[in-house]
Amino acid sequence: MQRILVAIDGSEPAWKALDVAAELARALGARVDLLHVVRPEPPPAGIAAYAEAERIPLEEEIARWRSERLEGDEIAREAAERLRTKGVRAVETIVEEGSPAPAILATAERLGADLVVVGSRGRTGLLATLLGSVSKRVAEEAPCSVLVVR
Ligand SMILES: Nc1ncnc2c1ncn2[C@@H]1O[C@H](COP(=O)(O)OP(=O)(O)OP(=O)(O)O)[C@@H](O)[C@H]1O
Ligand SMILES: [Mg+2]
Repeated sequence: MQRILVAIDGSEPAWKALDVAAELARALGARVDLLHVVRPEPPPAGIAAYAEAERIPLEEEIARWRSERLEGDEIAREAAERLRTKGVRAVETIVEEGSPAPAILATAERLGADLVVVGSRGRTGLLATLLGSVSKRVAEEAPCSVLVVR
């Protein structure tokens, strides 16, 4: 267990997952990488079509994406800082555009992670299900072990 990848979305369950990962990393002397996935920047043509279909002013949609992106960078920065205060250094802090589950799976593969740590729920879910769709899909499809933190 040398490389631990933690997926964070800024939610309470994900912060808890980060804390557990830090504890494990300290005990094992493992390295930790952090990943936050943000919605991809809409392509100029696509964004115009979308804004028109949804009857949203184009500038508003672009501004929305920009603020999401800034928030994403902030979540990643906060996560690296939180890890540092727990005595663990994040080797890589990655903010990636895409769909959360596929991006987490691809990053785990690319980094050769031994363990992926996720929270059981995230920030977008309905509390009706026990496991969020991202944690469920990662647990099912990851190339390595997965720890779902409760
Ligand atoms: N955008 C993301 N980037 C990185 N990790 C994420 C992202 N979204 C979810 N995760 C990880 O997956 C965990 C579970 O979140 P998930 O999205 O599955 O639950 P949810 O938001 O409650 O439900 P759902 O998204 O299915 O409506 C989070 O605690 C976090 O570890
Ligand atoms: Mg979610």
